[in-house]
Amino acid sequence: RYDASPFVPSGAGLDELRRAAAGCEGCPLHRDATQTVFGEGDPAARVVLVGEQPGDQEDRRGHPFVGPAGKVLTRALDDAGIDPALAYVTNAVKHFKYTRAERGKRRIHKAPSLRETTACRPWLAAELRLVDPDVVVALGATAGKDLLGPSFRVTTQRGVLLPLPALDGGDPPGAEVLATIHPSAVLRATDRDEAYAGLVTDLRTAARALA
Ligand code: URA
Ligand code: SF4
Repeated sequence: RYDASPFVPSGAGLDELRRAAAGCEGCPLHRDATQTVFGEGDPAARVVLVGEQPGDQEDRRGHPFVGPAGKVLTRALDDAGIDPALAYVTNAVKHFKYTRAERGKRRIHKAPSLRETTACRPWLAAELRLVDPDVVVALGATAGKDLLGPSFRVTTQRGVLLPLPALDGGDPPGAEVLATIHPSAVLRATDRDEAYAGLVTDLRTAARALA
């Protein structure tokens, strides 16, 4: 079974977690990726945004949401009245999963499997325990399923604040969770303006829970 738990130090703070995550071999994704991309942001953030996994640029640079999807996310947070500097951003999976169309060609993002998201969940659980936000925003289906269970569907259950379930079998953390579309879905949408507006509407709902 794939599992990050043996690599997660107990009683660690965020900085120690980040250092430990750099050496995680809890699933095979560390083999082909450049580096672990751990969460970043305000360690006392009241809102945590959870994406799927680092993209090509995040993998190269070592920071979450620094590529095209990150640009969309930062603008949407701003438009929703959430100060991006006061948020914490992370991903369900900490290593980039990809295929190549041909040898030496561009790296194409591949969705992580349930085994991989489950393996990586101890890192996310530890981050959420330490940051202890009021609201967690799941960006897209992978994060939504990771936080709300495999039957979660972002298309029908987005934009609603729900109680955040316990991620690691402990007590429910007492925070709320809201799922919305992934910012990269905005970039792929036929009607980008409409998709973007939907993302901002959902983030405004999250912002109201912070007020
Ligand atoms: N997409 C994600 O889900 N996360 C990132 O960090 C970048 C792109
Ligand atoms: Fe560890 Fe997660 Fe990377 Fe897999 S994806 S090796 S569980 S950090």
